[in-house]
This record gives sequence, C-alpha cells and structure tokens, in this order.
Amino acid sequence: MSRFDDLAQAWDTKPERVAGAMVFVDKIKEYLKDDIKSFKVLDYGCGSGLVSFGFANDVEFVEGLDYSKGMIDVYNEKAKNIGMGNICGYIHNINKEDLPSNKYDIVVTNMTMHHIDDINSFVNKLTHSLKEGGKLFIADLYKEDGTFHSDNTDVVHFGFHEEDILNAYKRAGLNDIIIEKLHSIGKPEKSFDVFIAIGTK
Ligand SMILES: C[S@@+](CC[C@H](N)C(=O)[O-])C[C@H]1O[C@@H](n2cnc3c(N)ncnc32)[C@H](O)[C@@H]1O
Repeated sequence: MSRFDDLAQAWDTKPERVAGAMVFVDKIKEYLKDDIKSFKVLDYGCGSGLVSFGFANDVEFVEGLDYSKGMIDVYNEKAKNIGMGNICGYIHNINKEDLPSNKYDIVVTNMTMHHIDDINSFVNKLTHSLKEGGKLFIADLYKEDGTFHSDNTDVVHFGFHEEDILNAYKRAGLNDIIIEKLHSIGKPEKSFDVFIAIGTK
C-alpha cells in the first residue's frame, strides 16, 4: 500500500498539478515537432494519467506504469469512461522490476524521480526501454529546501542539481542533452522551479 493510493481519487482536483502536467506535455510536443502518430509512449510514474492523456489522441499508444494500485485504477477508469482503447495503465515498481528493451519512441516522467532512491538506475532503466533514437523527457524539481511537500513521506530527494541529472543522462549513454527550466509551482510561502531534461538514445 502506497501513500499515493489514498491520494489517487482526488489527484486531478489540484489545478496547479494539472497545469504543470500540461506545460510538460506542450513542451515535449513543441520539441518533437515530427509526426508522432506512430509513437509508442511510456509515461513512468503515471499517477492518474495527467501527462498520458495529453498524448493519447496523438500517438499509437500510451502505457502508464506506476506502483500505486489506486492510481492505476483511476487511470484505467478514466480511459474506460472516455472510451480510449490506446491507453492503459499497469502496476510496476521501478525499484524492483525491469522494463522491456527497445520498445518506446519516447519515455516521459513527471514529478516522479524525487520519489526514486537510485536516480542512475532509474534513468538507465528508462533509457533501456527506448528504441534507438528515442527520447527521454524528465520533469522534476530543482533542488529545494524540503518544504515543497507538506508531508515528506516517500520523498527521497529534495529536488536535484542540474549536474546530477546531466551525469545520470551521460552515464545512461544519452546524447544531445538539454536541461532547462520548465515552469514554477507557486505555493503560499514561495515558488519552486521545475526543470525538463531531454536526451536522445
Ligand atoms: C508526484 S506523483 C506524479 C504523478 C504523475 N506523473 C503526474 O504528473 O500527475 C509520483 C508518482 O510516482 C509513483 N511512484 C513513486 N515511486 C514509484 C516506484 N518506485 N515505482 C513506480 N511508481 C512510483 C507514485 O505512485 C505517484 O503516482
């Protein structure tokens, strides 16, 4: 049972969370430019599918993986309710399981990596699942002071330095690496910057 199981039903009710996912989706589409109709997409740590559903109309299929059964249930219920047959969520724990090799054209993961202990292994596994020439897109927090979450249960990293992400991407053999600010999440006390990291296999 993960903390996210309890959060799943109300996950989509926070406007800034939905907006952040959309900024990520729009930036990826802007970056890709090409015809993505034939693309096979993996959304890792997909949650309720905020990012996945931003792609579903434009690509061949989207697979969402997440270790929270509550999140995957919400994800698949949403797909069923809108009658989308090319989007499906599965339970998967990246700390314990591998991913298929050379399967996806793009792998996207939004606000998940700060929950993963070994970021080098995470980036390696995601890269392994990409086809040659495929692209990895990670959005997550820049280094923060531990006040982003009101409850830090399951939070392993208080954000990241660009250098750590760059090293993880290089070690995984990714090329043409870009890391830049994507957007900021405003909270009453202060705002928190989010980066996007892009690399090509
Ligand atoms: C902050 S949420 C982000 C959800 C979604 N990407 C979004 O943008 O709304 C982080 C997600 O990562 C998942 N997660 C955390 N650790 C994981 C792990 N070891 N394996 C798979 N999923 C994990 C959680 O269940 C949760 O759904």
